[in-house]
Amino acid sequence: MALLEICTYPDPILRTKASPVSVFDEELRRLIADMAETMYKHEGVGLAAPQVGVLRRAVVIDSGGELIELTNPVILSARGQQRTIEGCLSCPGKVGYTLRPERVTVKAYDRYGKEITIKGTDLLAKALCHEIDHLDGVLFLDK
Ligand code: NI
Repeated sequence: MALLEICTYPDPILRTKASPVSVFDEELRRLIADMAETMYKHEGVGLAAPQVGVLRRAVVIDSGGELIELTNPVILSARGQQRTIEGCLSCPGKVGYTLRPERVTVKAYDRYGKEITIKGTDLLAKALCHEIDHLDGVLFLDK
């Protein structure tokens, strides 16, 4: 595994839409493992591939002791509202209040291409929305 360099605002790659993952191979699994290592090293709650310069729809999240790896995630439903402080490893020194759904259901694929469904509330819901935004070039600064 390897630590990856995190792109920081205003790097234009953070504003570029990422492409779907179509091949679930060792290269993808290495990317996901390296992203997780990088997220933990920086004590982040989540990390999206564009943040490490890779324009693929892959994210890792750990909002409380369990690593979640998602490729091609899509929000199926969102309910409620939460207004909390948010930050981002790509926007060092910046934090602010955002409005996010309180609970979301997300469809995605795991590192082997198997379809999975994740339900998240509170911090996990916020992290899912934040990381999926990254795949579309959206930053919490926009919220
Ligand atoms: Ni972020």
